[in-house]
Parts: sequence; C-alpha cells; structure tokens
Amino acid sequence: MKTILVLYSYHHMNTEKVAKVMAKVLDAQIKTPQEIDPKDLREYDLVGFGSGIYGEKHHKFLLDLADKLPHVANKKGFIFSTSAIMGKDKVAEDHATLRKKLQSKGYIIVDEFACKGFNTNSFLKYFGGMNKGRPNTRDLENAKEFAQKLIQKAKGS
Ligand SMILES: Cc1cc2nc3c(=O)[nH]c(=O)nc-3n(C[C@H](O)[C@H](O)[C@H](O)COP(=O)(O)O)c2cc1C
Repeated sequence: MKTILVLYSYHHMNTEKVAKVMAKVLDAQIKTPQEIDPKDLREYDLVGFGSGIYGEKHHKFLLDLADKLPHVANKKGFIFSTSAIMGKDKVAEDHATLRKKLQSKGYIIVDEFACKGFNTNSFLKYFGGMNKGRPNTRDLENAKEFAQKLIQKAKGS
C-alpha cells in the first residue's frame, strides 16, 4: 500500500514523534500540509493526517488542506493527534472537524490514534507544563502497534 503521512507539529514536536514511528512501520514519507499539492495525494492508497490539537481541533494548515482536497472514491485515510487532555469522547470530538472534512471528500477513515503530548501553552509554561515526557516509550509502542494493525484494516475495509 502506497502510504503518506501529512503532519503539522510545532509546539514540542510531539506529534512528529508519533508520526515517525508510524511512518517507519508503514514505509511512508512524511510531508507538511504546505508541501502537499492536494491533487498529488491521489497516487496514494492510504493517507494519514495528523497534528497536535489546538483549540479543540487539528491545526489550521491541515484543516485548510482538507478543504482543498479533490473528491476521491474509496480512498483510505487515518487520523492521529497528540493533545494535553485525553478521553475517549474528547478525542472523538477533537478529531471531528478534520474527520468530517475528509469524509465529505470521500475518504474512508480506517482508524484514529491519539496520545498525550507535553504542553506548555499559556500559563502552563510557568509551572513546568503538563504531560512532561509525553509521548513516552509506551505511547510510541502504542503508535507502532496502531500502524501494524492499520495495514490489515486498510486492506480489509
Ligand atoms: C495554542 C495551543 C492550543 C492548544 N489547545 C489544546 C486544546 O484545545 N486541547 C488540548 O487537549 N490540548 C491543547 N494544546 C496542547 C497540544 O495539543 C499538545 O501540546 C500537543 O502535543 C502539541 O503537539 P505538537 O508538539 O505536535 O505541536 C494546545 C497547545 C497550544 C500551543
């Protein structure tokens, strides 16, 4: 499966750590939304979209790219993120803006991954931040396992 990851990570490069592990398993390139020409994604069988969560959604650059994507039929995609606060419903909600945009373009979202990321946004920087050390070894192990299962899921869906 020809796979690419579209990643925007800037706060502490937390999401990049996760993306690198996934890219290795999936034998995929990683590019930023700015590096992508939307029509070029057509040549991939599986496209991963990921960033930190900022203001309860993915980064604007990724959302803007999703808006520009051409309509596709049966294209497989997956979504990933890191964020300060986790929780099953919270992840689903934080991913909803991007998920809806991708689905409206015809992407089949095969699976989604999220884990905690170090956060020093706003006043937190004065207190050493939250989630220091995340993603940690275990998070990255989970990301690896997610990517391994993803291949089978993408082939099956
Ligand atoms: C401007 C800004 C806004 C953020 N908003 C949220 C948020 O709404 N919810 C949350 O759980 N974390 C939030 N965070 C924390 C980031 O999602 C977290 O640190 C993430 O791991 C950053 O990913 P990155 O290092 O790949 O950029 C925010 C961080 C920044 C800098």
